[in-house]
This record gives sequence, structure tokens and C-alpha cells, in this order.
Amino acid sequence: MKENVIFCYSGTGNCLDMAKNIAKTLGDTDIIMMRRYPAVTDVRGAKRVGFIFPCYGGGLPGHVERYLHDIKVDPDAYTFAINQSAAYKGEGLKKLNELIPLDYWAAVTHQCTCIWLFPHDLMMPKMGAVEAQARSEHFALKFANDIKNNVKSKRSVPKAYWNTAEHAAWPKIARSQGQSLKANDKCVICGTCAKVCPTGNIRYAGKAVVFGDKCISCCACVQYCPQEAINFGKITEKRERYHNVNITVDDLNQEIISF
Ligand SMILES: Cc1cc2nc3c(=O)[nH]c(=O)nc-3n(C[C@H](O)[C@H](O)[C@H](O)COP(=O)(O)O)c2cc1C
Repeated sequence: MKENVIFCYSGTGNCLDMAKNIAKTLGDTDIIMMRRYPAVTDVRGAKRVGFIFPCYGGGLPGHVERYLHDIKVDPDAYTFAINQSAAYKGEGLKKLNELIPLDYWAAVTHQCTCIWLFPHDLMMPKMGAVEAQARSEHFALKFANDIKNNVKSKRSVPKAYWNTAEHAAWPKIARSQGQSLKANDKCVICGTCAKVCPTGNIRYAGKAVVFGDKCISCCACVQYCPQEAINFGKITEKRERYHNVNITVDDLNQEIISF
């Protein structure tokens, strides 16, 4: 068991990039991915255990909350969480803190990856991808140094009552957006979309891409398609694509990334 463990969900790379930057500074760290059921859930023995995840529809993404119930952490371990969003934190930190009490938490904004809703630079504060990435790296270093020194947060995690109703409605909204996904004739059946989908929702039937009913609206298929052939109806046709500049499809598909 490594000294440090970070559980990470990332749809389009921002959170995995944050996790990798923190792991580099900490050293002796395993990043355990939570896009699917985590390869390891019992991390008793790790001295520091962290969670890095985005806000989706005011709360935790995909199946993360269900997976969190199975994670076993040493009661003496130092625990931390970093939440990323385009604008607001949501109730994810609160949900996590109820299951695994946190010693340290922080939140930072980055580019909006939900491009059927907003263009990617419509984050708070508004800025372009290069500036947002530099800002994220700056924060990663600060968080990593705090974590290395086992700093405890002075403020308790936000209660975020107003996000509970939003997040309860979210899975239905996400699935219904998923029903509007289509690949156009620029598609060359390269396999990227199926590979990057965290729910196994995409398959191929001959030369057609078939989207199922398990979409969580993470937008990874739209953002990573090298032909820009996938769209949510017409909404994203003219919208610039964005995924984290440092994170590849293969990175997202790892089960454990060791430093
Ligand atoms: C499906 C979806 C829902 C989102 N919901 C919110 C939200 O409720 N509030 C917010 O501020 N940002 C929201 N975002 C923006 C992400 O939290 C933000 O872009 C984050 O950096 C994405 O991290 P990732 O690239 O690791 O997936 C959403 C993004 C997606 C794809």
C-alpha cells in the first residue's frame, strides 16, 4: 500500500490532471480511478486518503456516491477532498463528508466541460483554457503542500442545501440529454467514443454508433472525438470542444496510476 491514495473521478481530464499534479508533489501515491467501480476499495494502511471529483448537476458525478459506500479508510488516516466545478461546488463535499469525514477540503473552478449547457470558457471567473489551466496548476501546488503538511480545514464543508433538489433531478436530465446524442457522417468509427465513455453506453452496429440509455452526460465522447462528429442534437454543433490538455483517453481508462 502506498503512503497516499487519491480516489478520482474525471469525465474530461480536469480532475485527473489535478490528481496527478498533487500526486507528483506528494510522491508515493496511487490514484485509484472511479469512472467505473474502483479496482481497490480497502485502503486501510494508507496514511493519507483523498478524493478529487467534479460537480455534476450540483452533486457527485455518475456512480461515485454508490462506490464511496464501499471504501474502507483507516480511522487514523488524514483525509482530504478537492472539488472542481465551472462555477459552484454543489453538495458533493457534503455527501462525501457524511460517509468519510474530511480533515481538509478545497474547491476550485476550471473550464466548463458541459458544453451542451455553456461554452467551455463560461466558468467563474470567466477565462480561456490556457489561463484556467495555469490557475489550476497553481492551486494544485498549494493544495499538495497543505496535504503534505496534514493541514486541517478551519471551515466545515458547505451544507449546500439548495443543491439537493437540483441533484435529485439531475440523473433524469442527464439521461434525456444522452438521448439527443448522434454521430454525423464525419465519424470514422475509430472507437474513441466507446473507449472514453465511463458507463459503457456506446457500441457500434456496422458503421453506426449506437448510444444506449446509461448516459450521465459527462460529454467525454463529444469532447474527445477526433473528428468532432458527435453532438447533443444541434446545440453543440458550433461549440468549441474542450478537454484537459494533459489528459488522454488512455489516461482516463487506467484503473490505478502510480507515482
Ligand atoms: C454533466 C456535467 C454537469 C456539470 N454540472 C456542473 C454544476 O452543476 N455546477 C458547476 O459549477 N459545474 C458543473 N459542471 C462543470 C464541471 O464540474 C467542470 O467542468 C469540471 O472541471 C469537470 O471536470 P472533469 O474534466 O474532470 O470531468 C458540469 C459538467 C458536466 C460534464
